[in-house]
Amino acid sequence: MEFELSFLCIFLFIASLILCILLSTRNSKSIFNNLPLPPGSTGLPVLGETLEFSSMGKRGIPEKFLMDRMNKYSHQVFKTSLLGEITAVCCGVSGNKFLFSSSHQNNDLIAFSWPSSAKKIFPHSGETTKTINHNAMRFRSIFFGFFKLEMLQNCVVLVDVVAKEHLENHWNMEQKEVNVVSMVKLFAFTSACRLFLNLENRDEIDHLAAPFEEIVAGIFSIPVNLPGTACRRGIKAANAIRKKLVEIIREKKKKGMMDNQDCLSHLLTVTDGNDRLSTELEVADQILASLAGSRDSTTSAITFIMKYLAEFPHIYHEVLKEQRSIAEAKSSSGEPLNWKDLQKMKYTWNVASEVLRLLPPVQGNFREALVDLNYSDFFIPKGWKLYWSPHTTHRNPEYFPEPEKFDPSRFERTHPIPYAYVPFGGGSRVCPGKDIARLVILVFMYNVVGKFRWEKMIPDEEIMVLPVPFPVKGLPIRLYPNQKS
Ligand SMILES: *[C@@H]1O[C@H](CO)[C@@H](O)[C@H](O)[C@H]1NC(C)=O
Repeated sequence: MEFELSFLCIFLFIASLILCILLSTRNSKSIFNNLPLPPGSTGLPVLGETLEFSSMGKRGIPEKFLMDRMNKYSHQVFKTSLLGEITAVCCGVSGNKFLFSSSHQNNDLIAFSWPSSAKKIFPHSGETTKTINHNAMRFRSIFFGFFKLEMLQNCVVLVDVVAKEHLENHWNMEQKEVNVVSMVKLFAFTSACRLFLNLENRDEIDHLAAPFEEIVAGIFSIPVNLPGTACRRGIKAANAIRKKLVEIIREKKKKGMMDNQDCLSHLLTVTDGNDRLSTELEVADQILASLAGSRDSTTSAITFIMKYLAEFPHIYHEVLKEQRSIAEAKSSSGEPLNWKDLQKMKYTWNVASEVLRLLPPVQGNFREALVDLNYSDFFIPKGWKLYWSPHTTHRNPEYFPEPEKFDPSRFERTHPIPYAYVPFGGGSRVCPGKDIARLVILVFMYNVVGKFRWEKMIPDEEIMVLPVPFPVKGLPIRLYPNQKS
């Protein structure tokens, strides 16, 4: 362990030297040279301010890292260094607008970007910023091409079956107590395996699920691939899952099930604009990213909805009323949910929206400047990372009166102004899983509220954001059967 640490120190020292040399020789000439760089501090070499950033998350107050710096430096933009990269954090509605719409208008200015650690975990998604960006946009269009409206209707039925089976098997009255996070993770992952892989076999699903903890932590780690680091564990876990996914892909090809009926077949058989098929490894990385992206974020959202419903009985009651009226309109209790039903769940979705405002599962995302940029009279040099976060607007009283208050009805009264409410990002790179996430959350709420009431077993359970928000003990609850009205 000591050997590892000293090795790490030497490595960081050398890396920082190289970084300094690189930075001092760059950007010597630019049309924006007379503009100042964004104010801020880049902290320690390589580590930058990553430790402050993650320690605020550990304390459950990730927004504080951003708020402190906005107040100290600028409400428009400040510079920092995160996950090994110099980063300009674009803040507020104007920052969100700049990143979402300039990437929309012109792909040559700002590209989609992954932290270096994520590049190591998904090595088949491209090597340079340009190829990563190209592949991301390509898969995005293939993905949207598959999850069209008629497919989403099928998905409602599918997830409804998964939710019913899951609650039947894991949330029964003999148990009385449930750890929400671990159970909802199981449900969310099972749903994702059905939706993305058409995988039903419990053993196969469990086999895939086991290494997932390490992946999400690895994506947002300091990009140092050494023994004992989160990055190394993430890479190992991803390799194990990728291997399994390639087996599943080959099996599917062998069985000739390439009938385009599920997402995996679609990814494998659809060509892009240049008639190129995706390789097995590209598809495996894409599925891996979709599974990793969907499991924890959906689980986090459902968990906090359940937490607030336990805390506010009148809100629980409103949700129950809405869901009952949908259930009662069915001819038999076995009749599955459909897409139209989801559109009627307005109040339930307002509750979910309020959770996504206060505790957004995604803390923010990176872009990269492909050219020198002028953002509100600050010079952002080519090659810098750009970062946006929902936290710079979601608790701002200008956009959300009484921002700390949990109040789902705020979404009934007004629509947030454009670019203020951004749990799924926005513009051409809006989260591709947005509709699926909404579907999975609403279908689960329909089923769980129909069956149970619940109370929290820990009154003031703390929250950690690492990098997805969860109650530290996983929200243990006590279940009560819901009498039919
Ligand atoms: C930078 O952009 C601002 C608008 O945000 C504009 O007023 C200013 O003239 C630009 N500066 C340069 C040097 O292009």
